[in-house]
Amino acid sequence: MTSTIDRGEGAASVAPLISVRGLTVGYDVARTGNRLIAIEGVELDVREGEFVTVLGPSGCGKTTFMNVIAGLVKPSAGQVLVGGEPVTAPGPDRAVVFQDYALLPWRTVFDNVKFGLEMQKRLKGQGWRDRVQEAIDMVGLAGFENSYPRELSGGMQQRVGLARAFVAEPRILLMDEPLGAVDALTREVMRDEIGKLIAKTGKTVIFITHSIEEAILLGDRIVVFKSHPGAIKEVIETGLSRPRSERNVQSDPRFIELRDYLWDALEHEATEAAISK
Ligand SMILES: Nc1ncnc2c1ncn2[C@@H]1O[C@H](COP(=O)(O)OP(=O)(O)O)[C@@H](O)[C@H]1O
Ligand SMILES: [Mg+2]
Repeated sequence: MTSTIDRGEGAASVAPLISVRGLTVGYDVARTGNRLIAIEGVELDVREGEFVTVLGPSGCGKTTFMNVIAGLVKPSAGQVLVGGEPVTAPGPDRAVVFQDYALLPWRTVFDNVKFGLEMQKRLKGQGWRDRVQEAIDMVGLAGFENSYPRELSGGMQQRVGLARAFVAEPRILLMDEPLGAVDALTREVMRDEIGKLIAKTGKTVIFITHSIEEAILLGDRIVVFKSHPGAIKEVIETGLSRPRSERNVQSDPRFIELRDYLWDALEHEATEAAISK
């Protein structure tokens, strides 16, 4: 890649909000009795307000990495610090948006979003109903409060997932391929919307994707993962101005340069991963 690529080393000058130190995660696989090292020696600092996209082939440990930050998976070695404190469990400072939405099918849209507050025992007092409604309005679902997930399209279900994450006002949003299950057109629209929404709220975001375009369009930095074992291959500063719209960015020479570079990097990774399976 040309010298315009900043590998991200300069990013550590401000105290990071998220600090990942020597992170290794192994799983004991009961079926084979073996231990599988999912990620090894991962180091990353994320500044407050930064939008980091994580890109890599299937199975390279992206979800594992995010789950440790979420407090859902324990490290085998190393640690994750948020605001200087080690992560040991989920907490109100972090919210997760899952690829498969993870909605409660027996609850309405309103009650699914309400669940974001319920989990944190924050339903006391009067204000919570307004907060739930605001989150629903923010993601464009006003009028669907009483609908059930099965009555909604995939894109709309993921809007519920977003509202449930936003309602608790976390500092950090952890998004694991949130648009992976919606159709291509909806995906484009929601990408733009998510970018704008997050720019407005100033949240710190870790956004996993296997789409090169998505990683460039949304990210301030792109963390590229490699497989066997899962680890960070490189970190690339996108250097694209904001606000970005899908249409404008796609003709930007920098976008094209990044896309070609990442395409080559990932093609190599995907081939390696396929061969060593
Ligand atoms: N709970 C688990 N038990 C055993 N192996 C797991 C578990 N979760 C993930 N893995 C394995 O760890 C590796 C990384 O998985 P994952 O983090 O889901 O990768 P990605 O999200 O990049 O597809 C894969 O080989 C996967 O099969
Ligand atoms: Mg995954």
